[in-house]
Amino acid sequence: MRVAVLKGGDSLERQVSLRSGARVEHALERLGHEVVPIDVGPDLVDRLGAAAPDVAFVALHGRGGEDGTVQELLELLGVPYTASRPSACIRCMDKVLAKHALQDAGLPTPEFYAFSQAAFEELGAARALPAIEERLDFPIVVKPAGQGSALGVKFASTAADVPGAIVAAFSYDTKVLLERHVAGRDLAVSVLDGPDGPVALPVVEAVPHEEDFYDFEARYEIGRTTFTCPAELPPATAERARELALAAYRVLGCAGFARVDLMLDEASGELTVLEANVIPGLTDTSLLPLAAEAAGIGFDALIARVLDLAVARAAA
Ligand SMILES: Nc1ncnc2c1ncn2[C@@H]1O[C@H](COP(=O)(O)OP(=O)(O)O)[C@@H](O)[C@H]1O
Ligand SMILES: [Mg+2]
Repeated sequence: MRVAVLKGGDSLERQVSLRSGARVEHALERLGHEVVPIDVGPDLVDRLGAAAPDVAFVALHGRGGEDGTVQELLELLGVPYTASRPSACIRCMDKVLAKHALQDAGLPTPEFYAFSQAAFEELGAARALPAIEERLDFPIVVKPAGQGSALGVKFASTAADVPGAIVAAFSYDTKVLLERHVAGRDLAVSVLDGPDGPVALPVVEAVPHEEDFYDFEARYEIGRTTFTCPAELPPATAERARELALAAYRVLGCAGFARVDLMLDEASGELTVLEANVIPGLTDTSLLPLAAEAAGIGFDALIARVLDLAVARAAA
């Protein structure tokens, strides 16, 4: 097949996407496909028209590629493509929408309050902060609704830190959320679809190096976080994490693959879902390929499976 690999783009995660895309291209070549790499930009529609691919592998992360925009275009152009459809992309890219959907379905996610910039500018939402602080306790996690590699995620330890954290989050999105902090372990469960329906892969734990505990941006730099897979967890906890991830994948309407980020509360043992990523990283240090490997699914087999699903969906 002729496969267009969509990568790059102008999101903040461009560099990761270029690495994901390159790795996907190599796998597709090994699988015997003809690969057309496309660095996504204003000429995307023309380039897709010229390439006339049988299917597109979307290896974009962040705004534009992961939020349903490119998927909508591919639908319009009638090009089969990998992973989730626009509706799931839109829902997952917006943490506020995703958390409401999870809550409505009875799935656990940390308590939160969300505000738009307009609420602050036009409705004096700042006056409501003390009430929120009282309900959530400190530290409070402040994050932009639009997701991406912990960009803009801040911990506010006191009331004095909250306004600054909110302003910082507004530099990434026009909507922010204040979320209850979970003291505990950082888990990720990838879900991979297949002939027998979606399955949850082994749990990955991200173990930060001590000094980086409050610095999320540093945690994502290579070497500052250790990833363990399968995570060392009591079997019942690992099973519950995988069940929750699968349930979240279904509720959010994901397809192909996705990675669900969870927190395990150290004190209570309770698991909560933070978010789902519809196009998780596919680089050689990314978590979905690591988890697939642990389940005995090598990278090429992973890519082949996701591509097959895209073709099968278009034929259905
Ligand atoms: N409520 C929370 N309690 C504790 N840590 C959190 C919380 N929310 C986020 N974090 C930390 O920040 C990281 C990034 O948050 P997440 O919601 O997954 O956003 P994204 O990965 O899209 O930036 C998490 O992996 C976790 O380490
Ligand atoms: Mg995350």
